[in-house]
Parts: sequence; C-alpha cells; structure tokens
Amino acid sequence: MTTRRQPLWFLSAAALLLAAGAAAGPPDGLSAEEEAGWYILRAGACAACHTAAYDGAPFLAGGRPIETPFGTFYGPNITPDPLHGIGEWRREDLHRALSQGLDPEGRHYYPVFPYTAYAGMTGEDIDALWAYLQTVQPVAKPNYRHEVSWPLSHRSLLFGWKMLNFDPAPFEPDPERSESWNRGAYLVRALGHCAECHTPRNLAGGLDHSRAFAGNPDAPGETRIPNITPHPEEGVGDWRERHIVRYLGFGVTPDGDFAGGSMAEFIEVGSSHLTDGDRRAIAEYILSLEPIP
Ligand code: HEC
Ligand code: HEC
Repeated sequence: MTTRRQPLWFLSAAALLLAAGAAAGPPDGLSAEEEAGWYILRAGACAACHTAAYDGAPFLAGGRPIETPFGTFYGPNITPDPLHGIGEWRREDLHRALSQGLDPEGRHYYPVFPYTAYAGMTGEDIDALWAYLQTVQPVAKPNYRHEVSWPLSHRSLLFGWKMLNFDPAPFEPDPERSESWNRGAYLVRALGHCAECHTPRNLAGGLDHSRAFAGNPDAPGETRIPNITPHPEEGVGDWRERHIVRYLGFGVTPDGDFAGGSMAEFIEVGSSHLTDGDRRAIAEYILSLEPIP
C-alpha cells in the first residue's frame, strides 16, 4: 500500500520542518476571536498557497506558484497591505470571496482558489478569520500575473464553469451522525478541502464526485495523490484512527514513512496545528467513507 520512499528518516527535511512547525502556536496578544481565526487559517491550510515557498518568505504575502493542467497560478498577497493585499477590503468582501468565489468588483475567481470547498464554511468562522487577518503584518509585495492562456484568461468564462461545478451551499450537519463525525466532515469537506487534491477531476477540471476521495493520478507536479477512502487494498482501509491522527499531526505513516509532496506542506502549515480532537474527528469521518477501489 504505502511504498517506502524516504526510508532514511534522518535525511528527511520534511520531518524537520514538521517538527519545527508543530511546535509553533498562535502569536501572543490575540483576542479570543483573532485566535479562533488563526486556528481557522491553519485548518484551511491557507498559507500553503498564500506564502511563497522560500525560507523567510513574508507570511501570506503571496507569490506561490500553483501548477494546474490549465496553467500556473500564483497565490496572491492576502496581508492587510492597502495596495497589494486586501487592506481596502471590508469583512463582507472576504465572505463573498470564500463563499461565492467573487472579488469585491464581482469578478469570478479561478477555482484553483478552493472556494468550492470553503463555501461550506460557517459565517462565524469567516468572521474569525477576518479578525485574525487584520492582525497580520502588512507586506507591500506586488502580485504575479497568472500564466493561463486564452480563452481561460477571460474570467467571465468561469461563470459557466461555476454553473456546472460549484454548489455554494454552506455545510449542513447530518443529525443522524455524532457531533465528532460532523466536525470531521466539516474539517474535511469545507476547511481542509481534502477533496481538492484527493478526488479525481473531469476534463473541465471539476471534481468527479462519484469517485470522491479515491485519489487523483493526474495531478501536475505530484507523483501520486493516494486514495484515502477506507478501501482495504487501495485506500487507507488498514489504517486505524490513531494512524490518521499521527499522520496529520507528524506526517508519519503506519509503516514509518514520511509524507511527501504537497501533503507534507499541508501537514506543516495546516493539520499539525490542529487539536488532537479535531484530528480524531477527521479520522472518524475519513474511515466512515464508502470504500472506493
Ligand atoms: C490551493 C491554493 C489556495 C489555498 C489553499 C487558498 N487559496 Fe486563496 N487564492 C488562491 C489563488 C490562486 C487565488 C487567486 C484566484 C484568482 O486570481 O482568481 C486566491 C485568492 C484569494 C483571495 C482574494 C485575493 C484578492 O486579492 O483578490 C483571498 C482573500 C484568499 N484567497 C484567501 C484565502 C484564505 C482565507 C484561504 C484559507 C481559508 C485560502 N485563500 C486558501 C489559492 C489558494
Ligand atoms: C494540496 C493537496 C492535498 C490536500 C489539500 C490534502 N492532501 Fe492528503 N495527500 C496529498 C498527497 C500528494 C499525498 C501523498 C503524500 C506522499 O506521497 O507521501 C497525500 C497523502 C495523504 C494520506 C496518506 C495516504 C497513504 O496511503 O499514504 C492521508 C491519510 C491524507 N493525505 C489525508 C488527507 C486529509 C484528511 C486531508 C484534508 C484534511 C488531505 N489529505 C488534504 C495531497 C493533499
């Protein structure tokens, strides 16, 4: 199931990064709401796309290339800088961006910004995120232009894509299920946007929901994105809850391998900062999925 890719743990830079990242808590002096927003930013792994990948890159100041079959996109600056960041935004603008994929002028965002998942976020969580983003150091760093060719360079075309592939419905808890299962479902489907990587896509780049979480063999720049349904041979069927909790916290598989690719980063900037309770909730939800070969 898991192949041994990095057996020499002491050579694994990812492991060191994870160990360093996992230790860092929220900055001092935040209000309760701002601290909640810091946590949401972690659960959403926003820094994976909004902080450039070099050492010492300014936090959330953008410049990270994201490869897709449609071109290379760059995560923009989301610090409160008035010119290059979102310093002139109002709180409603953040709500609209995350839940409708629209900029303050009403133009469509490319779905490489996973608002398709974040649209499930609660209004309360977006408010907290907004409060936290106001406390981030503003950085006057200009944005890069996306490298995307005609006709996709026309944002108006995204209207059609959204009609077919975007359901801007907030997350609905399932009253038949436990509170922790519902928390896990929210963290996986909305904030953690796990499907954005782990679900295969159709030719138009929309998610193939019939194969949700069954892995994506064709993601550019990745060797593999595995099946995380509990299928015994091809998924995580032989992982127990504690294995998933440990993997999301420290990036170590049950076989003692380290997470690689974009998952290592997702863990570093995102899931390693979650509480054990939230990681258990994610594991409970993942292990309850229908196994798909
Ligand atoms: C997979 C990469 C990715 C992740 C994860 C991601 N974003 Fe983004 N985000 C982008 C890209 C790319 C754009 C630009 C989209 C466009 O130009 O159409 C963007 C745009 C934005 C914008 C609009 C900025 C502007 O100047 O118009 C905001 C605000 C934003 N993201 C906030 C967030 C927050 C908050 C999170 C976490 C909850 C997040 N993003 C997670 C890639 C990402
Ligand atoms: C940015 C893309 C991305 C996102 C978002 C993402 N993953 Fe992953 N995930 C990967 C990649 C790539 C791998 C393979 C890592 C490797 O090869 O070591 C992986 C591996 C895994 C594995 C190990 C499976 C195995 O068989 O080795 C689990 C479990 C997992 N992810 C769960 C999750 C969960 C749960 C979420 C959401 C909370 C999530 N992932 C979000 C890209 C992603």
